[in-house]
Amino acid sequence: MRARGPWILLLVLAFVLPGAAGAADFLGPESCKGCHPAAYEAWMQSKHARATDSLSETQKKDARCLSCHAPDQSAQSVSHVTCETCHGGGQYYAPAYVMKDAELARLVGLVDPSEKACRTCHDASSPSLKPFNFVEALKAIDHWSAERTAGKQPRAESASPEPATAKKK
Ligand code: HEC
Ligand code: HEC
Ligand code: HEC
Ligand code: HEC
Repeated sequence: MRARGPWILLLVLAFVLPGAAGAADFLGPESCKGCHPAAYEAWMQSKHARATDSLSETQKKDARCLSCHAPDQSAQSVSHVTCETCHGGGQYYAPAYVMKDAELARLVGLVDPSEKACRTCHDASSPSLKPFNFVEALKAIDHWSAERTAGKQPRAESASPEPATAKKK
């Protein structure tokens, strides 16, 4: 591991200490937009970005519906199924110096969404005609292909014919 300032260690410690984990605040999808414009646009086209709008005014106050259509509304005041619903609250990982470090970003809360995470909402009770198919569903919410071809290469190791030198340090 590269040497980092002790203040980074403090930040990591504060986060991983029991009780602190999961306490990161949400910044809202607009906060990701500036650095991930392609992902943001693709997400905006998805039903996740409008999930709360499917509910009537009465249902918008019903915790049973909100648990999947706006799971972060009561605790974080963020509606719909947003970036941070899946990737974790951005308070600690969103700063540029953290985002550039994939390992550190994950230590302070960035989540790689799993099939299991999708299934917390896409379960037998959700009104789908077909059972949830993870591979198909992933294709339908693809916001990473655009991100990767937009000139940004979030994953240094991802194979690409383009020169990786462009904007990377
Ligand atoms: C200041 C700019 C900035 C902001 C704000 C930002 N990101 Fe990032 N993010 C980056 C950069 C740069 C990378 C690529 C890191 C690299 O090159 O390895 C990245 C990588 C990622 C990755 C991929 C990580 C990996 O290693 O595969 C995800 C997922 C991500 N960001 C989600 C988000 C979300 C969600 C938000 C909003 C809460 C957000 N980012 C806000 C700059 C930002
Ligand atoms: C367990 C999670 C979950 C709960 C709880 C839930 N929903 Fe949903 N809902 C979903 C999912 C997932 C979908 C999308 C299903 C699909 O198309 O694959 C959906 C779709 C819908 C749609 C259709 C939207 C469209 O674009 O066609 C409506 C309307 C809806 N839900 C209303 C409600 C109401 C009202 C409640 C509360 C009584 C509720 N839901 C509770 C997960 C949930
Ligand atoms: C429904 C859950 C969900 C939502 C909502 C969501 N993402 Fe993702 N995101 C994923 C999954 C799953 C992947 C990984 C796909 C893969 O590589 O197989 C991903 C991948 C990414 C990546 C690419 C990581 C890489 O390896 O290149 C970025 C960047 C990202 N998301 C940012 C965002 C931003 C910004 C938003 C909001 C505008 C957002 N995501 C909303 C589930 C979600
Ligand atoms: C917090 C709950 C939640 C999580 C987690 C979640 N979803 Fe969803 N998803 C929903 C809801 C609610 C809808 C329906 C939105 C609406 O139309 O109102 C939906 C809709 C969708 C749709 C659109 C279905 C259609 O009819 O077009 C796809 C595809 C989808 N989700 C894929 C995923 C994938 C893949 C993951 C995991 C990476 C995931 N979702 C995680 C709640 C969730």
